[in-house]
Amino acid sequence: MKITDALLAEHVVFHTLFDHIETSISGLKTLGEIRVMADLLESMLVQHSKSEDELLMNYLDDSIEQMGHRETFHEEHELIEKHLSAVRSARGIKLARKLLGDAVVGARKHFDKEERLIFPLAERVISYHNIMKLGQNWLEKKAS
Ligand SMILES: [Fe+2]
Ligand SMILES: [Fe+2]
Repeated sequence: MKITDALLAEHVVFHTLFDHIETSISGLKTLGEIRVMADLLESMLVQHSKSEDELLMNYLDDSIEQMGHRETFHEEHELIEKHLSAVRSARGIKLARKLLGDAVVGARKHFDKEERLIFPLAERVISYHNIMKLGQNWLEKKAS
């Protein structure tokens, strides 16, 4: 499997999770419930971003730089995590709910950019041999 197909399959799971958070957010009545949701999303996103950073980015740094996306791409992973940890430290329920909603919107934008620009770029610039090898590395990481 190509690494881009593996990451896209993960995106499908995230889109379902984003939908679920957005539809249930107004029904979350306590800070505890909102934090549990933010923690779940954060722990899943950390694993996903790590796979992208470790497996894909080394092959794409030069091309992304030429496209002017290098800074933003690396920063976006950190920014999404920052937004989610802000949910944890929010004291009021309204603010926590808003921050969680904002974090989901930000994550959606980032995912959209990857699907439109980054993954197609990866398929253009990484050789077939390497893109399959990276997919194999992804599988091995998942199994370990
Ligand atoms: Fe990402
Ligand atoms: Fe992604």
